Amino acid sequence: MGSRYEPDRLLHGGDYNPEQWLDHPEVLAEDIRLMKEAHINCVTLGVFSWATLEPEEGKWNFEWLEKMIGRLYDNGIGTVLATPTGAMPHWLTAKYPEVMQVREDGRRNLPGRRHNFCYTSPKMRERSGAVNRELSRRLGSHPGVLLWHISNEYGGNGTDASCHCELCQEAFRGWLKEKYQTLDRLNGAWWTSFWSHTYTAWEQIHSPVPDGESMLTGLALDWRRFVSAGITDFMKEEIRAVREFSDRPVTTNFMEFFKPIDYHKMQESLDIVSWDSYPAWHSEEDDTGTAMRAAACHALMRSMKKAPFLLMESTPSGVNWRSFNPVKRPGMHELSSLQAVACGSDSVQYFQWRGSRGGYEKLHGAVLDHRNGADSRTYREVKRLGERLSALSEKVVGSGGSASAAIIFDWENWWAVEETTGPISGMEYVPAVLSQYRPLWEKGIDADFIPMDAPLTDYRLVIAPLNYMYKKGYAEKVARYVKEGGVYVTTCFSGLVDDTDLCFTGPHPLEETLGIVVEETDALDHAGRNVVEYEGRKYAAGRLCDVVRLRGASALAEYGSDYFKGKPAITEHAFGRGRAYYLACEFPPELLNRLYGMILSDLGLCGSFAEKLPEGVTVNTREKETKERLMFIQNFNPFPVEFSCRDDAVDAETGERLEGHCPMGPYACRICICGPADGRK
Ligand code: GAL
Repeated sequence: MGSRYEPDRLLHGGDYNPEQWLDHPEVLAEDIRLMKEAHINCVTLGVFSWATLEPEEGKWNFEWLEKMIGRLYDNGIGTVLATPTGAMPHWLTAKYPEVMQVREDGRRNLPGRRHNFCYTSPKMRERSGAVNRELSRRLGSHPGVLLWHISNEYGGNGTDASCHCELCQEAFRGWLKEKYQTLDRLNGAWWTSFWSHTYTAWEQIHSPVPDGESMLTGLALDWRRFVSAGITDFMKEEIRAVREFSDRPVTTNFMEFFKPIDYHKMQESLDIVSWDSYPAWHSEEDDTGTAMRAAACHALMRSMKKAPFLLMESTPSGVNWRSFNPVKRPGMHELSSLQAVACGSDSVQYFQWRGSRGGYEKLHGAVLDHRNGADSRTYREVKRLGERLSALSEKVVGSGGSASAAIIFDWENWWAVEETTGPISGMEYVPAVLSQYRPLWEKGIDADFIPMDAPLTDYRLVIAPLNYMYKKGYAEKVARYVKEGGVYVTTCFSGLVDDTDLCFTGPHPLEETLGIVVEETDALDHAGRNVVEYEGRKYAAGRLCDVVRLRGASALAEYGSDYFKGKPAITEHAFGRGRAYYLACEFPPELLNRLYGMILSDLGLCGSFAEKLPEGVTVNTREKETKERLMFIQNFNPFPVEFSCRDDAVDAETGERLEGHCPMGPYACRICICGPADGRK
């Protein structure tokens, strides 16, 4: 279990690759000058430096790095020091081909790309341990080193991150033996009597692959658990290596909703969570959906330790890897960076400081581009943001948030629900989760994203979208939560299977709590084939429609056609001191907005500016122990807006009292200080 790390100021910096410029000392000198000018106070070094640090096996070359860390330190710039395992040097793959991943078709990958290594390979573990220990022994206690950045975006090789080599097969069988002890138990859990797929020897078990066993969902689910645990274990081994000589805190950079790794589990070994955020700004007519998704990712990161996190990478301009890559419009860089801070980040970091001259990412946005260097809009916007962050730093650092709502976001449920077949193919968990998050975001209500195993009692409202799997004890916990006064909202296709993907027999595990009987699930070929009537208005029903009967609950909305016309589409059940809602189908945002408007106001939860926020504007709050609150009001519209402000707010940056109608520019963020919450969080 990691301890906690909190930076002493807002960090502003990013990936820096001086090894690409070692024969250009004038470039390195200019870098430091411009970093200081742009209020850069920390950089990440060494992310992909293995070939420079260890040009041949056991031959070390650390002088350049030591010099760099020292020079930065002398100029007031700290280092986030990376272990270099994100990409492998060619001598390693040539000498030890077994370190490369084997694909589903049994072929071993060729050298190149990144994260192309087998997480089980003892050789890979040995060689990465060696370079990590050496790095830590030489530099891990340097006063300039703030934090360890373990590897880079584990699993991020553009595939499902798994390796199917013989070593992984053996390790998988060992992992299964430990989990199930006997083959009988495993066969029972995976229901292998179906299609005569009973295993009679452990050696018969193979990872799920398209040409082999690809239809046994219990196997697929356990394989995902094994892969996620294996990558996490590799990371722990890297952490152990650097800890031999260094007491600096550790992080690794996560990637938003990344399916292959259960980040809720991985984060347990870190001292602070960090992540790389690359929202697709300006790719749609309206940026609100993109902003909402970015906010959800930030909230996920903040929820893991219920503490501030670090924005480890973002682009100051555009990326180079989508099919089209707009640059951030004037103001968007400042807004999107402050959005991260608003949602709990204690940093704004970039990929990367100076654009590489060659290679795959040469045209990726960087603070300094090849042509104009510091004489660019990007640099000027970074500099302006740097000034703003350094002025805000003291007010922000050390403040947290306290979400009154939680959304169940559980990796094992994600794997299971997307693996299952029927009632529709291509079930998508993340969009289902985001559709429930969006109304809260629009109303300025912070929500945590928690796994099923987390306690619920901290929250007034818990929402469990597409909660297909119920882990052991989950239904009982929810029933208790509602009985004791909690409000629980869940949706269609929930509560079907246990944690080995076996269907529950008998009634829905939450039948009593929800006060309904779920009879069947219909699947329509597109949304709008049926309608739902709610509060006198008609809305398109989604593709997935549960047909339910009331058993104690009352209907808030009804289906409008087909054989289940008149049957409940939304139910509400008073249970104990709380209430439980069932959303029998997927709904459009307008309906969810009205529904959550009602639920939240019944709970007395309304965002501080909730009634008056214009569309495309939201607010996030960070709170100090003194209960003083910092409100970040963010306008994601490309045009100016006005918001109405409660009367005790003061602009945190200008000291101006905000009263009545306050103007905001396009893509602007205003930050104001308010007194303690008076019950209306
Ligand atoms: C990140 C990665 C960086 C860089 C960046 C480009 O995912 O960690 O090394 O590739 O993307 O957007």
